[in-house]
Amino acid sequence: MAKTIGIGICGGIAAYKIAELVSKLRKKEFEVIVMMTDAATRFIPPLTLRTLSGREVISDLWTETLEWKVQHVGIAEQLDLLVIAPATANFIAKMAHGLADDLLSTVVLANTAPVLVVPSMNTNMFENPVVQNNILTLQRLGYHFMDPDSGLLACGVSGKGRLPEVDDILTQILALMAPPQDLAGKKIMVNAGSTCEDIDPVRYITNRSTGKMGYALAREAIGRGAEVILVSGSTQLPVPPGVQFIPVRSAREMCAAMLAQQPGCDVIIGAAAVGDFRAAVAAEQKIKKADDGSGRVTLELVQNPDILKELSKSKEPGCIMVGFAAETENVLENALSKLAAKKLDLIVANDVTMEGAGFACDTNICTIIRNAADIRHLPKTSKESVAQAIWDRVVELL
Ligand code: PMT
Repeated sequence: MAKTIGIGICGGIAAYKIAELVSKLRKKEFEVIVMMTDAATRFIPPLTLRTLSGREVISDLWTETLEWKVQHVGIAEQLDLLVIAPATANFIAKMAHGLADDLLSTVVLANTAPVLVVPSMNTNMFENPVVQNNILTLQRLGYHFMDPDSGLLACGVSGKGRLPEVDDILTQILALMAPPQDLAGKKIMVNAGSTCEDIDPVRYITNRSTGKMGYALAREAIGRGAEVILVSGSTQLPVPPGVQFIPVRSAREMCAAMLAQQPGCDVIIGAAAVGDFRAAVAAEQKIKKADDGSGRVTLELVQNPDILKELSKSKEPGCIMVGFAAETENVLENALSKLAAKKLDLIVANDVTMEGAGFACDTNICTIIRNAADIRHLPKTSKESVAQAIWDRVVELL
């Protein structure tokens, strides 16, 4: 059965380009339901889109149709993908805040299919922190975004804000309709979350990792067809469907589990925040307060094994090993040292002092490093998008 794509057009000068997109989607035998905001109908006549899509164009929340009983719910139920293009600043704000005051915004709320948002607007509007925050809010909720192109805009200025080429939007739509299975047949192991090192029966040493970065990597790999082993320290996250899940507590447990699973792995990614130290002896009973009046208790720490270093020792030919570098200073320099010391193929550096990067947040700001001459910076983006970029880079190496 043909898949159905909803195209939501907002009131922007690039609206006319969507006619070509609709025509190309129809040629690829997709069913296309075009929805227009009131403003969009001022930029391109619905008749053009009705002719190209071969079906009624919907723009009015109150129109009674025979085709759907409750119009917006009926439309939403049919969609395999919803594309908002061009997405204006106003419509992005409505989506980010759950407003539902016209046909298209009600469909967005009733929709459960993936959503691709293609912004197009004046550069200053696009770069306005309010718009960027709204985009981030939606990205965190799993909405897919295309970055606008740069060039001469209709308002006369040159900058970022042009609607991407129609063929690029088409490529993105096709990728979302059928995610690339470029990790099919690959066995992948990812570690995630924080380790816990017991001090006594009630206390332990841990860190701020929530597992969000590692779990996003595991989910993305499953989506791309891989067999995924997720070795997880402490997190509050649901286990991603389809993974082989190995929960662990301490760094040594994580190390042992990963060494046992290592044979046959095509890719190993270390996204976990592994505790570097543990108590030399975990007390069998709860440690009492000092009663000698000193007010001091001494805890001796010893170093944990470095898991990636241990795995590197028995690395199989062809296996790609990726580490993260959580840095607070000299980010590139320190990351390059870890890349070499742990004999990795790639290292993903994140400056964990930056707002929106590192531990616990939904976004990250990463640099993917192959060597000193091959360094790719990613913008601040959702951990899902970072995971996509990391897998894209790994696929290039595989
Ligand atoms: O989990 P989140 O809340 O989403 O946060 C994400 C993150 C900040 C934890 C993640 O992006 C990240 O940076 N993970 C690595 C954290 C870390 O331990 O960095 P590091 O620079 O100390 O270690 C470098 C690499 O060696 C890492 O891949 C680490 O997993 C690995 N390592 C470290 C110590 C150790 N004993 N064994 C290891 O394998």
